[in-house]
Parts: sequence; C-alpha cells; structure tokens
Amino acid sequence: MRPPDRVVAALRDLPSPVCAYVYDRQALRDRADAVRAALPFATLLYAVKANGHPDVVRTLAAACDGVEVASGGELLLAQAAGARRIVFGGPAKTDAELAAALAAGAQVNIESGQELRRLDRLAREAGVVASACVRVNRATAALPGSHAMTGAPTPFGVEESQLGEVLALPHDQVTVTGFHLHAVSNNLDGPAHARFLADALDWSVRAAARHGIHLRTVNAGGGFGVDYLSDATIDLAAVGAGVTVPAGVELIVEPGRLLAADAGWYAAEVVDLKQAHGRRFAVVRGGTHHFRLPAAWGYSHPSTVLSRAAWPYPWERPRWNDQTVDVAGELCTPRDILARDQPVTDLAIGDVLVFGRAGAYGWDISHHEFLRHPPPSFIVV
Ligand SMILES: Cc1ncc(COP(=O)(O)O)c(C=O)c1O
Repeated sequence: MRPPDRVVAALRDLPSPVCAYVYDRQALRDRADAVRAALPFATLLYAVKANGHPDVVRTLAAACDGVEVASGGELLLAQAAGARRIVFGGPAKTDAELAAALAAGAQVNIESGQELRRLDRLAREAGVVASACVRVNRATAALPGSHAMTGAPTPFGVEESQLGEVLALPHDQVTVTGFHLHAVSNNLDGPAHARFLADALDWSVRAAARHGIHLRTVNAGGGFGVDYLSDATIDLAAVGAGVTVPAGVELIVEPGRLLAADAGWYAAEVVDLKQAHGRRFAVVRGGTHHFRLPAAWGYSHPSTVLSRAAWPYPWERPRWNDQTVDVAGELCTPRDILARDQPVTDLAIGDVLVFGRAGAYGWDISHHEFLRHPPPSFIVV
C-alpha cells in the first residue's frame, strides 16, 4: 500500500533518522463518509480507543455523529474534541468515571448489576436521570473475526441468561433504553455483519418485550475489518444491505479500526542491514514499542520503501537488491519484529520503511516506555 503524496511529502521533510506517525485527516473524513453512505440508517460513533490522538478524535468527532469512549481519559479527549454525542462503555468503570459520564451527559453502557446500582446511586446524588444501555454477552457467538466478546466466557457485559436478574435491581434514576451488543474485532465478512445487525435488532426487540423495556437504542458496536496483508476491507455495501431498523429504534455502530486504520502511516528509517544464521535483517529506528499490532497479532505487516538519497559517511553505502528481509526494531528483544520475509528490490541504510494501515491500534496499544527510546514524531496532514 503506497502512501498518498501528502504523506510522502511530510516524511521527506523530516531529519534523519526518520521515525514518525503521519495521520491523514482527509482519509479519516473520507472513510467516515463512506460508512455513512453505506449505513444511512445507523448512527455512527467513533471508538476512540483505536486512536486517541487529539487531531484524530477532533476530525472524527466532527465527521461522525459522536464518539464512544472507554475511560475517563477518553471522555476528556471527547469533550476537548467537541463531540456532539458521547457513549461511555468498557468494563471496570469507577464511580468517578460514571459521575464524569453523567456530568458530560454521556449515555452509559452498563456492564453489570453492580454498575447499574452504582450509576443509579450517582444519578440520584447528581439529581439527574441517566440514560443507559445494558451490554449483553449473548448466548451464542455472532460473527467471524478476532477478540470474540460475546457468546464466550468474557468479562464483558451481562450474560444473556442473567439479564432479567440485573434488570430487576432497583434503578429508578436510570432509564434503560436498550442493549449494547459489540461482538468481535476485525470482521471482514460483510454479509455476515449484515446478518449480525439484523439479528441484533431482532433479538433486542424480543428481549425488550420480555423485560418490559421501551426499546429505543440498539448499539451493535464496532468490528468492521481491514485485512493487514492485502488492500481488502470489509464490503460496506454488503453490511448495509437488507438491514431494516424498526420505527422508533436507533441503531448505533461504533467502529474504531475501519475509521482510523487507513489514515495512519508509521515510518521508520533503516539504520542497519545485517545477516545472521542465514537471515537478513533490516534494523530500523523504531519498532514494536511504537507499533505493537503485528507482534501482538502475530503477522508480518507489509511496508513500502521510501528511498532517500542522503548518505553522510565517507564509505560505501550498504544496499541489498532483490532480497527477502526481516524488519527488526531497536529494542533488545528478538521479539521486536515488525515483519518477516519481506521482499525488497532495493533497500539501503538510510531508506525509510513506511507501514500503512497503522492509524488504528498502532501507537495507542504499544508499550512506549520500554527502553526509553525517543518517541516518534507525530505529523498531521
Ligand atoms: C465496546 C466496543 N465498541 C467498539 C469497539 C471498536 O471496535 P473496532 O475497532 O473493531 O471497530 C470496541 C473494540 O474493542 C469495543 O470494545
């Protein structure tokens, strides 16, 4: 995946050794528009956990209907970004976070009976009525993809069989408007996602009737996928096909990855080329402490070579042609590998490797402090 010219131009200006994330606001807006066009019947929230850079949050808060946050820190980001609508989800919310959510007028996704009781108490103290969905861990798995959070033993939400018990707890100050049903990460199967949305709506209508809830909200979460090994993305037209939202019900989707992945590029300069035990390594200024996703998910992240002419030393510049290389980072661990077996036609020390699809769960999930190397530059175009 080749970076657009505006990203290449931003990287060309950087001093050596290059180590940078570039975030592309136009790409964020374009992707939000594409999701809106494919799912005109849904409310679109951006899941801030994918990328909490303030400019990314600001851009997507404006391009979407609002944002989904999963901590007090993300709530502050959302407020600073001027988000018109905030939904607060995530396990282990503290009283302080619930109180902040109430003060911000956020809708809360309730994770347990204890959380419902605490929200009820805090709402009474604040003299407000809270609006909430109950997050449900459904009886069956719903979708292909990774990180299954429902239909499986996970700490997320209320198990379907315990829903009646939880809703029977006193909660006069909390209006339960519906259900939150986020299922998986990175699903690439569009028709399966359409079936999941239809089923989420159908199940919610039946569950609301069973439990005496006036159904107004069905939050189907995120999970729209991108394929890191190709240019493929979930077929959004297929996701939107044949989904009918009942009158009076709002269907919310809250993707993170799909909105942010293609708007981020991670660039790392090659500082050494070496061979050991039959393998060739390109060692870069950067690594998994900045971009942990490929190591965490166990795949090789593709990159493109940005050739740079400058060579400041009075000896011959090392260069490999038509070779297969492993891309290693600057950490003292053999696990600091961004990619294995990458074909390169021409790679020299001083060139820059540019990793696409790095805008979601890149910097934000990485272990930045390990070894205390300087952080990358962050450039927003
Ligand atoms: C509750 C919830 N909503 C939304 C998301 C965003 O998911 P994705 O980035 O896969 O679209 C997540 C991710 O873990 C989540 O847990």
